[in-house]
Amino acid sequence: FNVPAPINEPVNSYAPGTKERALLEAAIQEARATEADIPMYIGSKEVRTEKKAKLSPPHDHQHVLGYYYEGGKEHVTEAIDAALAAKANWENLQWEQRAAIFLKAAELASTKYRYKLNAATMLGQSKNAYQAEIDAACEFTDFLRFNVAYMSEIYSQQPPANSKGIWNRVEQRPLEGFVFALTPFNFTAIAGNLPACVAMMGNVVVWKPSNTQIYSANVLMQVFKEAGLPDGVINLVYVSGPDAGDVIFKHPDFAGIHFTGSTGVFQNIWKTIGENIHQYKTYPRIVGETGGKDFIVAHPSADLAVLNTALVRGAFEYQGQKCSAASRAYIPASLWADLKVRMEQDLQSFKIGGTEDFGNFINAVIDEKAFDKITSYIDRAKNSNDAEVIIGGDYDKSKGYFIHPTVILAKTPDYETLSEELFGPVLTIYVYEDADWAETLKLVDRTSIYALTGAVIAQDRYAIEEATQALRNAAGNFYINDKCTGAVVGQQPFGGARGSGTNDKAGSMINLLRWVSPRTIKETF
Ligand code: SER
Repeated sequence: FNVPAPINEPVNSYAPGTKERALLEAAIQEARATEADIPMYIGSKEVRTEKKAKLSPPHDHQHVLGYYYEGGKEHVTEAIDAALAAKANWENLQWEQRAAIFLKAAELASTKYRYKLNAATMLGQSKNAYQAEIDAACEFTDFLRFNVAYMSEIYSQQPPANSKGIWNRVEQRPLEGFVFALTPFNFTAIAGNLPACVAMMGNVVVWKPSNTQIYSANVLMQVFKEAGLPDGVINLVYVSGPDAGDVIFKHPDFAGIHFTGSTGVFQNIWKTIGENIHQYKTYPRIVGETGGKDFIVAHPSADLAVLNTALVRGAFEYQGQKCSAASRAYIPASLWADLKVRMEQDLQSFKIGGTEDFGNFINAVIDEKAFDKITSYIDRAKNSNDAEVIIGGDYDKSKGYFIHPTVILAKTPDYETLSEELFGPVLTIYVYEDADWAETLKLVDRTSIYALTGAVIAQDRYAIEEATQALRNAAGNFYINDKCTGAVVGQQPFGGARGSGTNDKAGSMINLLRWVSPRTIKETF
């Protein structure tokens, strides 16, 4: 690399009595005591409208964290205009200057803003301290530093071959137009990376975060600004999906979308882009990570402790709201009785509550809509002949959107929670006869309409090989003897195919290459 060699940001433990713990607690207290006033950022302007909307912690929905201002179609138009106005200066800047801005942003996020970003993620998205740390402090800065390194490789690639009297060059141009970043609530890192890696490659961006992530998006924007990102390069707007879509997908300068969210929304966007294709100057880049129904399949040779940890952590950390979370597991009958005892012990020992108490492992799900959806699945399982709720199943939304870690035992392999995405702290288990291992692998593949993450837990090397081959297309990130969450930037490039997205691996050169449009130049002497 001809930039600083990236290393993964070390993870703080926040153990009681540490300096870091005190700093994080102070940041949480300060955030809780202040009412944030969060404008849209369009060009050089902070935009406030008549429509003020409240932000609350999902685990304490009566508390007011602050207010943001909702915009309309006119603000989307203004954001596009501001982006296009910033484009010429931004794309003509030497790539090293752009790299420096994002390296500085990484430095700020990992030092001065670390506790503020974590506190915002803990309060706004109900992540516990460890989950916030590996996301906002570590994964976000990793994305920036590793992407700068991949970017430097792209701009330093070997030129093409020449022949006598001919000089060939390849120029990595930014896309012609603006890019739309539509970002999710579940990772502050992804919300920040989606616009940042597009901008890094010389593009200008209109960024619409999820309404449930605006609180930490505002801190990300402060980081970008303090790092020296010029006005108009990333424009942050809070508008409805239809208002954004009506303006953006009809605009002749629409050049691409960088998306993380649901499969349904992504498919509708793709259709809309198709319907409007004749209006654009260029074919837009469509890059998206969408849903998942991630699996863990255990072989009779599995180590029980490894299997239990993979299930408990993979399914329930951050209330099962990681796109990578294990939400279905296939367990051999010979292991089931012992595994059930271990899981019960662990899950019943987890404390549930707000993120301000660092002892709580399980916090709230993101909002009432998610709570109602997840609990409707739990209620149906309670009343079904094809399923049984064997652990958990309780929930309460009086103070926050709390759902106890829940395990459903499915009696048929086609039970709804073995294929539909709930995005919550619910794991569905299907117990198979040990002799049916090969059949079970086929079953897992056949029911993988999504293909984001998956894991095999086994000690038998032949079984590991069989699973790796049989499930080749069932997961973009495949784990052997580990949980299926927690991909680390620079180590496990992340993304899936089938219903899970375009598999342009977040935090990789593949992804960055989607945001340039190379020009080949041949000169003859
Ligand atoms: N790194 C996260 C995970 O794998 C996703 O961004 O869980």
